Amino acid sequence: MAKKVFIKSYGCQMNVYDSARMGDVLAQEGYIAADAPADADLVILNTCHIREKAAEKVYSELGRLRALKESRMLMIAVAGCVAQAEGEEIMRRAPYVDFVVGPQNYHQLPRLVANATPSNKSLGFAHAINTDFPAESKFDFLPEARANGPAVFLTIQEGCDKFCSFCVVPYTRGVEFSRPASAILEEARQLTNGGAVEITLLGQNVNAYHGDDGGLAGLILKLSEIGGLDRIRYTTSHPRDMDKNLIAAHGNVSKLMPHLHLPVQSGSDATLARMNRQHVADDYLRIIDKLRAARPDIALSSDFIVGYPGETDADFESTLELVDAVGYAQAYSFKYSKRPGTPASDRDDQVPEQVKSDRLEALQNLLNRQQLEFNKGFVGKVVPVLFERRGKLPQQIAGRTPYMQAVHVDCENTDMADHYFGKILPIRIFDAFANSLAGIIETPTGQGEENLMERSRG
Ligand code: 5AD
Ligand code: SF4
Repeated sequence: MAKKVFIKSYGCQMNVYDSARMGDVLAQEGYIAADAPADADLVILNTCHIREKAAEKVYSELGRLRALKESRMLMIAVAGCVAQAEGEEIMRRAPYVDFVVGPQNYHQLPRLVANATPSNKSLGFAHAINTDFPAESKFDFLPEARANGPAVFLTIQEGCDKFCSFCVVPYTRGVEFSRPASAILEEARQLTNGGAVEITLLGQNVNAYHGDDGGLAGLILKLSEIGGLDRIRYTTSHPRDMDKNLIAAHGNVSKLMPHLHLPVQSGSDATLARMNRQHVADDYLRIIDKLRAARPDIALSSDFIVGYPGETDADFESTLELVDAVGYAQAYSFKYSKRPGTPASDRDDQVPEQVKSDRLEALQNLLNRQQLEFNKGFVGKVVPVLFERRGKLPQQIAGRTPYMQAVHVDCENTDMADHYFGKILPIRIFDAFANSLAGIIETPTGQGEENLMERSRG
């Protein structure tokens, strides 16, 4: 019987990509995907270290897996950023883990799996920590990429040299590294041959990409020539690297979707300086102006941290003002979380927990209002939706608009839902909620196009 692996991804899309690639590596070793840990021979937790809460989740999941391992043979591995940052700690707190493997080492999975002896013991046996930054690049050792749906991720850049004072990424993912354009184009072709219609280019600092002479804009232009690939996105970007060619690409490259996740973190210049963000609020607003000049209908998204050490009420007000000035389609916001080894964690001007909670609530109320307003603006319009997921009901199908909104459509029957999977169809929106839109398939009369143009003029 084939061996089964269950890979659980935490945190960002880069982990989702890594999990898919681990699946590709293990498929070569004869592993197929398990539906749940309960029917797996190998469970891999692909972890996130960005905030304390994310990191702690791993230990509670490991506790549950320990119980499973006590009842039968099971191999347990911890991968991702917690593995990288606290491999020793994992082995101390969860010695039943068979091996720990960092984000740059998972091409070595076949060897690690072969060397680990599956066991049903919960304590003390051979285990290994593999978190060195290897001299070779894992990408040179990974097998062909398999598309796991119509919308897929492709990592083009890893690591970060920006060293924002709150962030663990430069420590867990290492220095900035860009993959060569030729390797990315090859992987993109493999993915589109396998049925991918949309590719999201990933990197912790994706717009710092320098593996092509033309930077990220140059790469996007080359990717846009691939037949069968209809939609291109990229995330996550830093305002400092939003160069004029990339901004122009939003106006010139029709396959580049009108949506951008551009984290600002705070609207206060004093806070931004303490965060070592290397830009002020006005720089950010000027970038948004230029993006909107290039692509008037571009939908904007961001990340915010509230309660960063030293943040005053006035600083926080500046954040609310920036949000008002931009008008976001969607955004993520977090309470500042102390991360070991980062400069901000040692500061003695930490903000009390209650103040953080109050500010988060106020910010989220504002962002949620903006998001609902953005979505409501689509009611009655026709938008092209790429159907990429099944809905909760068998005849339901779900996808995304160019602006990243989730759309649900009820088809006549399950066969129709299957038929639409992986296709881009014009959908008339009849209802809008905070996190999704409801629509029906529009008979193709060309009306959708007109509506979209109307939006971009507005
Ligand atoms: N505390 C809270 N949020 C953080 N982020 C990164 N580090 C921290 C931290 N220490 C947020 C930032 C980043 C997003 C991925 O996570 O907003 O953009
Ligand atoms: Fe972290 Fe992003 Fe800042 Fe890099 S740019 S240090 S990944 S928040």
